[in-house]
Amino acid sequence: MRIEGKIVLITGASEGIGAACAKEFAASGAKLSLTARSEEGLRRAGGDDALVTAGDITDEATRRRVVERTLERYGAIDILINNAGVGIYQPTWEMPMAEARYLMELNFFAPLGMTQLVAPHMRARKSGMIVNVGSIGGKVVLPWMTLYSVTKFALGALTEGQRMELRRDGIRTMIVCPGYVKTGFQKNVRAGQTPGAVANARKFAITAEECAEAIRRGVERDARTVVTPRSGWLLVAAMRLFPALVESRMAQINGTA
Ligand SMILES: NC(=O)c1ccc[n+]([C@@H]2O[C@H](COP(=O)([O-])OP(=O)(O)OC[C@H]3O[C@@H](n4cnc5c(N)ncnc54)[C@H](OP(=O)(O)O)[C@@H]3O)[C@@H](O)[C@H]2O)c1
Repeated sequence: MRIEGKIVLITGASEGIGAACAKEFAASGAKLSLTARSEEGLRRAGGDDALVTAGDITDEATRRRVVERTLERYGAIDILINNAGVGIYQPTWEMPMAEARYLMELNFFAPLGMTQLVAPHMRARKSGMIVNVGSIGGKVVLPWMTLYSVTKFALGALTEGQRMELRRDGIRTMIVCPGYVKTGFQKNVRAGQTPGAVANARKFAITAEECAEAIRRGVERDARTVVTPRSGWLLVAAMRLFPALVESRMAQINGTA
């Protein structure tokens, strides 16, 4: 999809990948509607021109407000980027159920809720793109954040299914699977700490700007899946071909082998 002149709604746009997407899409000529809890962060990311709606995206009232305000200001939504998300480093067998539910609420139900509000408008115009920011952990389970992986696998399945559900309506869907990206994600987690071996891999991490560029390119070429960096595909392939080997290495990294 050509981005120039398009209306792009981005969740989780106050920092990290979402804020970098705001800049990347604005530079390509998009009109922005941004949401997250921090109004200050949104204004920093969007400058003077972006429509800013601060609020918690797990709250249905916020979701309705963002979509209504975007339609009031611009009259349409061409691209929805469901990016807001959070991690948790805690074994699932001892995690409070409330935390497990919260992660699903933010990483899965919020994107589903946003899509339910936006899809009818896109269907009426027979055009639109829904971009869900998943994770490489949504392709290969990461044992140091199993529940996070569960939410991202669910988001990946939603993205694939909706692509088929909405095919004849001219709506495309795309799942983005970043590996390690240098953002505040690790410090913003709900609980726990990055295992040492994973934290050390930060030197190989891509920047939020590189991730945003991969997302923008993916939208331009109507991609189904964007894995960034592309070397992430090697891990996906290794898991398919040698699952026992990869699992054993993952458990080693997790300190549970
Ligand atoms: N960084 C990585 O290594 C990495 C790798 C793979 C996938 N991802 C995915 O990429 C996406 C963005 O992550 P990031 O690295 O940019 O993380 P980040 O820097 O922590 O940014 C997260 C964004 O989500 C917003 N957010 C969090 N909770 C929210 C809530 N309840 N309501 C509304 N907004 C909320 C935050 O804004 P406020 O705090 O202002 O609300 C912030 O703008 C996430 O879906 C994440 O799972 C990240």
